[in-house]
Amino acid sequence: MKPIRIGILGLGTVGQSVARALLERRDLLARSAGAPLVLQRAVVRDLDKPRAIPREQLTTEIARVTEADDIDVVVELMGGLEPARTVIEAALSRGKSVVTANKRVVSWHGPSLLSLAAKKGAELRYEAAVGGGIPLIAPLLDDLAANRLLELRAIINGTTNYILTRMAAGDTLDVALAEAQRLGYAEADPSDDVDAVDAADKLAILVRHAFGLTVPPREIFRQGLRGLDPRDIAYGREFGYALKLLALARRGTNGIEARVHPAFVPIAHPLARIDGAQNAVHVVGDLCGPVMFSGQGAGGDATASAVLADLLHVSRRMALGDPAPTVRDFGPEPKLAPLAEARTRCYFRLAVEDQPGVFAQVTQVLAQQSIGLASVLQREPGKMGSAEVVLLTYAAPEAALASAEEQLARLSCVRAVRARIRVEGGDSGGAA
Ligand SMILES: NC(=O)c1ccc[n+]([C@@H]2O[C@H](COP(=O)([O-])OP(=O)(O)OC[C@H]3O[C@@H](n4cnc5c(N)ncnc54)[C@H](OP(=O)(O)O)[C@@H]3O)[C@@H](O)[C@H]2O)c1
Repeated sequence: MKPIRIGILGLGTVGQSVARALLERRDLLARSAGAPLVLQRAVVRDLDKPRAIPREQLTTEIARVTEADDIDVVVELMGGLEPARTVIEAALSRGKSVVTANKRVVSWHGPSLLSLAAKKGAELRYEAAVGGGIPLIAPLLDDLAANRLLELRAIINGTTNYILTRMAAGDTLDVALAEAQRLGYAEADPSDDVDAVDAADKLAILVRHAFGLTVPPREIFRQGLRGLDPRDIAYGREFGYALKLLALARRGTNGIEARVHPAFVPIAHPLARIDGAQNAVHVVGDLCGPVMFSGQGAGGDATASAVLADLLHVSRRMALGDPAPTVRDFGPEPKLAPLAEARTRCYFRLAVEDQPGVFAQVTQVLAQQSIGLASVLQREPGKMGSAEVVLLTYAAPEAALASAEEQLARLSCVRAVRARIRVEGGDSGGAA
């Protein structure tokens, strides 16, 4: 049987795992693909680092993979926007199918690269770009295709989930981040994770497949972990919630809501139990109801599992001589709904003067914005001399909640609004 010849770009954490599996699982993979998968060559920057494959199969010249006649499928595992995007484009332009784990390239350039692939009779697959080893893209496109998806909530950044798990145990953000860096979960510059850039990239990919919405990641509202205090997690727990960095998308009346921010989720919700560096995506379909996918969102072998699944898919098709699929028709393109219209419940923590009448002034501000108050906690003044009031509201539009925050901060009895955290109930946002 004609072998499928593979070239890998990048032999780092994921590339090494993919290369090892191609060598060590030859029979298993050949049976599944219907043809032998042969690792022909791999591109690296440094030829002297120890690698999973013999040195004579290594090169530093990208064109020896993307332009070589003896390569059928290119696996891009270099990461970053450039040169990865240009290189994927070059391979597709030559009619070579590409498998990538690169969320940055897929979230920013996925639609144009998919069009190019279809034009050239090639295929572009990226199961590993979101959720590492968790199958997500294929289930959204295939297994759940008969559904109208109503809602998607995801924990898709393992680093921030690890940090929040530590903070739930009482660590400050700085301490939890330092520990994440020590364990290799967080980069030396953790901004992409902590500022939710990575999660917004991944949400952009998910909303396209779940809702047919094409949105550049920069248009997705994102708020990261900065400013979070372990006390808020402790107060949230008293109300029955766990704090997660949630990537959320929902079908609304004015389009698709898509946002990434810290959110309280009910302790009984399956997402509340996703701890440490785990990832999970919870979707609600109109036929299937709630479904959750969870597992290892990162790591060489877990991510290689998704890369190899794509590779097998492409190889099976090529072995059968079937044409590459055309671009998926998602139907009429929906709009991104404005954040101001999103309805959520909300948690506020206020540092207030220890004086009579504070509560009346605070509730008056909420009433002016038609925001209902669901629960209140009051704490005696601590060492710093100010008392704390913690409020949990009923669902209200984001615009009203933001105005309330501003007005609360202006009250003379309020020293500061220490936190405003959205609450995502198990009931599509909660009823007012
Ligand atoms: N790591 C994970 O758990 C994980 C999970 C999901 C998705 N991903 C995605 O998988 C991709 C790979 O991640 P990784 O963690 O394996 O990265 P990595 O460990 O940093 O490895 C990158 C590899 O690419 C090579 N490389 C980078 N730039 C190159 C260039 N310009 N020319 C030639 N070779 C180049 C490097 O060569 P040298 O070794 O010579 O430096 C290295 O072998 C990324 O898109 C990442 O977002 C990773």
